[in-house]
Order: sequence, then C-alpha cells, then structure tokens
Amino acid sequence: MSKTTTSTRTTNRLAPGPQQNLLLNTLFGSKEGGAIAWYMDLWRQYGDLVRVKMGPMVMHQIVHPDHVRHVLVENVDNYPKGFSHDKLRIALGNGLLTSGGQLWKYQRKLMQPTYTPKGVAQFADIMVDSADQMLARWRLLKGRETTLVVNQEMMRLAMSVISRSMFGIDISEDFRDAGQALMDILEFASARSTSFIDPPLYVPTPMNRRFKHALETIDTFLYGIIRERQHQGPGDDLLSLLMTARDEETGAVMDEKQLRDEVLITFFAGHETTAQLLTWTWYLLSKSPHVEEKLHAEVDTVLNGRKPTLDDMPSLVYTRQILDETLRLYSPVAITARDPLADDEIAGRLIPAGSMITITPFITHRHPEFWDNPEGFMPERFDPVEVKKRPRYAYYPFGAGPRICIGQHFALMEAVLVLAEVSQYYRLKLIPGLWVEPQFMGTLRPSRDVLMTLEERHA
Ligand code: HEM
Repeated sequence: MSKTTTSTRTTNRLAPGPQQNLLLNTLFGSKEGGAIAWYMDLWRQYGDLVRVKMGPMVMHQIVHPDHVRHVLVENVDNYPKGFSHDKLRIALGNGLLTSGGQLWKYQRKLMQPTYTPKGVAQFADIMVDSADQMLARWRLLKGRETTLVVNQEMMRLAMSVISRSMFGIDISEDFRDAGQALMDILEFASARSTSFIDPPLYVPTPMNRRFKHALETIDTFLYGIIRERQHQGPGDDLLSLLMTARDEETGAVMDEKQLRDEVLITFFAGHETTAQLLTWTWYLLSKSPHVEEKLHAEVDTVLNGRKPTLDDMPSLVYTRQILDETLRLYSPVAITARDPLADDEIAGRLIPAGSMITITPFITHRHPEFWDNPEGFMPERFDPVEVKKRPRYAYYPFGAGPRICIGQHFALMEAVLVLAEVSQYYRLKLIPGLWVEPQFMGTLRPSRDVLMTLEERHA
C-alpha cells in the first residue's frame, strides 16, 4: 500500500465527460432506469474514465480493473471514505463500514478473526435452520395460493439468520418493533444514498420523524441486549465474539457505543445484501432452465435429501458458481464511492483533491474486454480455469483491498447453504410476463416485487 497524501499530479489533462454542469438529482430523476442507467450511459458515451461536473462538485466514474486496483488497493491511502459516506454515518454511526483512519484500522484488526471462514463456521446450522423454518411456512401453503413475494421472503430469511447469529434470537419473529425499526433505518439510509439535497434531521419531515423514532427503538433494544450480555457473561453468538475481542497489545475491549455502532452496521451491511443476492439468484434461475437443471442434479447428488452442512460446501461447486455469476450481474453493492485527499492521476488524467470517485462494479462486471456475452447468465465462467484468464479486478462484488467486505465468508456460506437446501424441494417460477429491472437504492434492488410461484420438485 503506497502512502499518497501528497500530490502525485503531473498532468492537467481532464478526463472526457459531458461539458455541461449536471445536477445529480435532476438526472437520476429524469433518466428511466435511475442511477444505474445513468452511469451506464456515461460509460458508453465517454469510456472507462468519465469526468462529470455536478453543481460545485467534480465526480469521476471508474470501471476499468486497473483503475479499480489503483484506487482500492495500490493507492488506497489517498482514497478514504470521506464526505461521500457522510449520509451513511448519520444513519448508522461510525462503525467498520463508515469509519476511517485509526479508528477503522483498530476496529478492523479487532474484528477480523471473528469473520474468517473458521470464525463464521459455527453459524452454518443457524443458516440451514432458518431456511428450514421458511420451508415449513411454505409447506403450509400447499393447495392454497402459492405466489410468493420472493424479495420479502429473502429479507425475512436474511434478517432471521443475522439476528440469530448476532444475538441468538429471531428479531423478525420475536422482536417485531426492533425488526421494524431496523427496516426503517435501512429505508432512510437507502433513500438518502440516492438523493442530492436532504432536509436536516431537525426538520420534522415524515421520513426524519420515522428515522428518529426508529433510532430510539433500536438503541433501547441494542443497549438493552448489550447490557444484559455484559451482566450474564458472553454466550456463543456474534455479539459475544465482538464483546470479547481484545486488542493484542493493551487487552482493551470495545466500549458500549462502539459495540452498538458495529452491531447496527453489521445488520445493515449483512442482511439486505445477502437478501438481494438470493432474490436475484431465484430470478435468474427461473429464466435459465438449463442452469436450474444442473443445480438440481448437483444438490440431489451431494445431499440426497438430507440437510446441507458446512462439510458439503466444497462439493457444492456449481451452486457456488451460480451465486458468483449472480453477484457479477447483480452485485448488491453496485456502486461505491471514495474521496481523493491529494491530486492524483489515473490513465494520465487529473483526479483532483476534493473531488469524488464512483466505482461501479455493475459496469466492470459487464465490460466486454473481460466478459464474453456480458448479459448472459453463465455460471461456468467461474470455473477456476476461466477465472485465471481474467484480470483480478475484473470482478469485485465484495470490494477490494484492505476495505474488502469483512462478511464475505458469512454471506457466501449463507447463500450456498440456503440455495442448496431450498432447491432440493422447490422450483421458483417467475409470474409470466413479469419484468424486473435492477434499481440502485443503496443496494441493487429489484424495481418491483419479485412474484414467483412455488412448484414442488418431488410432488
Ligand atoms: C452478498 C452479500 C454481501 C455483499 C455483496 C457485500 C458487499 C460489500 C462490499 C462491496 C463492501 C465494500 C464497500 C466499499 O468498498 O465501499 C462491503 C463492506 C463491508 N461489509 Fe459486506 N457484503 C455482503 C455481506 C456482508 C455481511 C453478511 C456482513 C456482515 C456479517 C458484511 C459486513 C460488511 C462490513 C462491516 C463492511 C465494511 C468493511 C470495512 O470497511 O472494513 N457484509 N461489503
């Protein structure tokens, strides 16, 4: 990692881009397909590095793997999460996802061991059990209306997994107020992530009021549970692991406020993303019968009707490739941002201090230089032989460099186990004629409810 807080500028050459000053909200609002379509258009018109002026601000869009490596890996100290993350900080506090500098470094080191493949292995049974609870609910539908709102089902499932892993309780079933408060905070963060001008929090708009109320509810819930755990002593959940994580040198543990911020951030970062991944996977499978057939062949052979366990993961090769391919086409974190500290240069073009960089895996993952038939759903691309043929940063659904997603092993384990377990029993079929577009709302959501019918595989 090179340190570049001083200028590395040798050029005044500006990157290509629209000449006029564009105001983000006007554009996003007017462009059919929203932010994603807007970013795609910029790339198609101006190429891999685009400069846009928006009001007083300059933004650069990057998509090329070399540029991604430059910003997220090699020159990372010059590209912190600065003002571009202010809105998220207001909504979620100063945890791993939103913090920077020494605080981030300290917290990342403290939390890293919790999220290694070995660290998260203990949550595999919860993941399968939550999937089984969902299947039990689905079985009750037999003979009745079996149209599911799949995006809601996957949100409920992911909420169950993360809350049971975090506290040992199912927040969506047993603490509905807290569950609803989390959803309201999520909505607030999503809405603000794509808006341009926001009323300050003291202005009593309906959204501000709902957010403040949600924060009070969630703080009462989180501090209550943290104090209870401090009183009773740690258990074997994520919260206990975070509470007992000690600084190697000083032996210090996290204070209560930091713990609260990290727990809230984990909920935010870890549940909607995984829910979107699973939703898009069902959607894509329903449109690709030959992929679905191969999936069924694999789960039937590997599992033969029993529940999946952690030990099955290495054998569920195609199941994992399906998820990798879904993450390519519909990366839940489709856009992220950084804020250059000092002037820098990318591809011989000036990247000035104080501007903003947006990094768009949604586009990199479709770049025809690196992907044949970019819109095709082809899990076989993730065969290790094929993976080796591509540049490392042509694919980065979990980000890259030191700030790569800390929860990636947790997320992939959950998605593999859930997909394998559910597809042993059911085929999910999209309602005929339903067309769903990806829409960027902080994460990549479906533009409408994904309605699917359930079909038993072994009726
Ligand atoms: C499919 C599911 C997921 C996807 C696609 C995903 C994606 C990402 C991406 C792209 C980043 C980096 C953002 C950036 O560089 O600006 C990130 C960071 C992060 N993710 Fe995930 N994530 C997922 C699941 C999870 C889960 C399950 C957890 C926790 C249990 C989690 C916790 C975090 C945290 C705490 C960070 C911040 C890490 C840091 O800055 O050090 N994520 N995630």
